Amino acid sequence: MTERSSLGIVLAAGEGTRMRSTLPKVLHEVGSRSMVLHAMAAARAAGVARLALVVGPNMAAVEKVVSAAGADEIVHQAERLGTAHAVLRARAAIAEGAEDVIVLYGDTPLVRAETLLAVRARLAQGADVVVLGFRTARPTGYGRLIEVDGRLVAIREEKEATDAERAVTFCNSGIMAFRGGVVLALLDAIGNANSKGEYYLTDAVEIAHRRGLTVVTVEGAEDEFLGANDRVQLATCEAIFQKRRRAEALANGVTLVAPETVVFAADTELGPDVTIEPNVVFGPGVRVASGARIRAFSHLEGARVGEGATVGPFARLRPGADLGREVHIGNFVEIKNGRIEDGAKVNHLTYIGDARVGAKANIGAGTITCNYDGYFKHHTDIGAGAFVGSNSSLVAPVKIGDGAYIGSGSVVTQDVPADALAVARGRQMSREGWAAAFRTRMARIKAAK
Ligand code: UD1
Ligand code: CA
Repeated sequence: MTERSSLGIVLAAGEGTRMRSTLPKVLHEVGSRSMVLHAMAAARAAGVARLALVVGPNMAAVEKVVSAAGADEIVHQAERLGTAHAVLRARAAIAEGAEDVIVLYGDTPLVRAETLLAVRARLAQGADVVVLGFRTARPTGYGRLIEVDGRLVAIREEKEATDAERAVTFCNSGIMAFRGGVVLALLDAIGNANSKGEYYLTDAVEIAHRRGLTVVTVEGAEDEFLGANDRVQLATCEAIFQKRRRAEALANGVTLVAPETVVFAADTELGPDVTIEPNVVFGPGVRVASGARIRAFSHLEGARVGEGATVGPFARLRPGADLGREVHIGNFVEIKNGRIEDGAKVNHLTYIGDARVGAKANIGAGTITCNYDGYFKHHTDIGAGAFVGSNSSLVAPVKIGDGAYIGSGSVVTQDVPADALAVARGRQMSREGWAAAFRTRMARIKAAK
């Protein structure tokens, strides 16, 4: 079935004024990923080869995001004249003649690829039109699926529905699919003589039925079709997304000590036998290899954690943090754009930025790579097996050789050869009896006042 040529049309023209945001609705994120990218990813995962995005006017931000994600075509809907009108903006793409044409909404981030595959399977089995429906106790606002003798004959929008039709609880998710050969003729037959004066995509069902075409429904779960029109609904989508991801992680052999406190991103990848302690947050772009342990209250984004490594508690891995096998990153440590090689330890109160830390190196408490001079970022290179004493500042660009030893409290501004000792701090001096003499003198002065 995946060999069938397919076109997905994602409607992303809604501004989403109820979000009360300068950001277009579909760019609001669920699991650190724009909603529109969820819809695109589900379509791709269901084997949809070409994706056309329908965007509204002044949506350069949306266009940028969807083209970066590989949208094949972007078309514009200048006026909001209804869902059928929006789909027809992609007329040129439809005319290219894909066998399957599937319409999705950019603000419905929870739809599953398997459900879309089931829809495509019905087309492959010969259906002309497939409507993805769901059953709900709260159908208000949705188009109702009107069935006669078990056959779908129409979709009735809330405003057009009779009382009897409103009592129907089988609803239109908004996702509809068409056999490529019939889609343009159906869309072109849709008019706008309804209470909203809009071209309703849903009217395609009644037209298809009257023309004797095969119209079927596929049923999905209600929670797949929740749209996010305001921040409350966005939070609801996020909660459902997180719940799913936790269940997936547990099923894949990840230990979550307190699952409900862990926050995932859509692209978080965790290997088997990873343990995630409570209150860990994954931003986008994190991969954790098997056997690693992420300890409580850590925040990771754009980071890779190697096999058997431990991170945290209270660690922050920022983009470009790349930890090898068995690396230890401890409390109040921040790593940014830094490669920490196998077995190295950075255990306490440290900032490593724009740096390499060689295998088995040991970075003492309070070490800082001074990577920024206010204008440019510079690199620090720490060799394998090096030992950096506590509270050292490594002023980049600087290179610490393999096996070198840095005395605590050093401010290192010059390269250190391999296996050398570098001490860069004021030399200690002690004066015998000085403190006692000082106290005696000061006490005498005070008493005389
Ligand atoms: C639509 C369906 C309804 C279904 C519901 C599911 C129609 C006529 N009705 O109703 O049966 O139960 O979705 O949520 O299709 N859009 C455009 N351009 C337009 C109009 C809409 O891009 O001119 C986009 C919107 O941004 C949104 C989607 O299409 O992503 C749905 O539009 P909306 O107006 O929310 O449709 P509903 O009335 O909710
Ligand atoms: Ca809607």
